[in-house]
Amino acid sequence: MATTAPIRSDVDEILPGVIADRRHLHQHPELAFEEHETAKFVAERLRQLGVEDIRTGVGGTGVTGLIHGRKGPGKVVLLRADMDALPIQEENEVDYASTVPGKMHACGHDAHTAMLLGTARVLMQRREEFAGTVKLLFQPAEEVPPGGAIAMIRDGALEDPHVDAVLGLHVAADMPAGQIGVREGPGSAGSDRFRVTIQGKGGHAARPQSAIDPVVIAAQIVLALQTLVSRETDPMQAAVVSTTAILAGEAFNVIPDTAELRGTVRTLSPEVRARMQERLPALVEGVARAMGAEAQVEYILGYPGIVNDPAMVAIVRQAAIEVAGEENVVVNELGMGGEDFAYFSLERPGCFFRVGTRNEARGIVWGHHHPRFDVEEEGMVNGMATMAQAAIAYLNGARGA
Ligand code: NI
Repeated sequence: MATTAPIRSDVDEILPGVIADRRHLHQHPELAFEEHETAKFVAERLRQLGVEDIRTGVGGTGVTGLIHGRKGPGKVVLLRADMDALPIQEENEVDYASTVPGKMHACGHDAHTAMLLGTARVLMQRREEFAGTVKLLFQPAEEVPPGGAIAMIRDGALEDPHVDAVLGLHVAADMPAGQIGVREGPGSAGSDRFRVTIQGKGGHAARPQSAIDPVVIAAQIVLALQTLVSRETDPMQAAVVSTTAILAGEAFNVIPDTAELRGTVRTLSPEVRARMQERLPALVEGVARAMGAEAQVEYILGYPGIVNDPAMVAIVRQAAIEVAGEENVVVNELGMGGEDFAYFSLERPGCFFRVGTRNEARGIVWGHHHPRFDVEEEGMVNGMATMAQAAIAYLNGARGA
């Protein structure tokens, strides 16, 4: 690798084409599992690049392709991008704004798709430099659980050829363009949902002794749920329980028959997650029973949490330092958001890193899922160069710190 120019200059050269692709995708957003035109666009680009074994319709609208290194057989590293947009009306006044009413790439998945196409182009040019295989994967439906990642895995995306390691990235509206963020261990939260239905006994509000009041029981349950975090979870472990909806009754003088609660549970470790899944229903049912009612709990598992493998993180960090300089490589803060790259990271050692795309001077400051969200496209250079560099390093035998 020392004999060739740095990857960063390859990426600088192709940036205008990547920006054009990103803007095309931005103008034509498609929602989760409806990414038909996006998938066609991706497959066409991969064909133009000469990528091999292009497969479409994987796990819905997913696309995969292979780049074989010319140094001979070796490991397989999977590079993943997500392709879906959101049901949001864009408020940006830019010439590449969404042309589809009520749909918008407001999370940057347009940039992810364009960047992975750019990374593929760089890796095709540098096939002489590595052994083994790069598997490119463009997935549908990151935004809507159960999501496109699990669908593609079930459809065999991690086999044929067998994938040894996985890499993914997300643009970050809270990180200045130029920076890259990595972190060992948890990279996103397990995000699960619950629905509680309390069956009381309705009656006249003036005669509570003849009723079983589900409203009072619901209130007790809301408070009791907070003890799952404050009294049952190791203070060194993070968890959130939020009750986000209380639905019961409508009259001033009627005790309703039933009450419903809805909410979300976020956890960073699989152990805490499993415990919440067991303890939340038990606590709810116990409180309800103690007060003479019955409660039914529906516990809906969402995405698990990302686990960033220390060796893969070390490879990505080293690549990022070579690309952007040590002063621009930061440790990601932990958040409680969800991300279905988690499924890949639970199956294979992986690293999911963040790429800064904020630019205050240009007013690119709005958060993900906001109608004015946008991406500082210069920031994509670091993402592509780091991804390509890390893939080559892994395939050439780097095994992390
Ligand atoms: Ni996203």
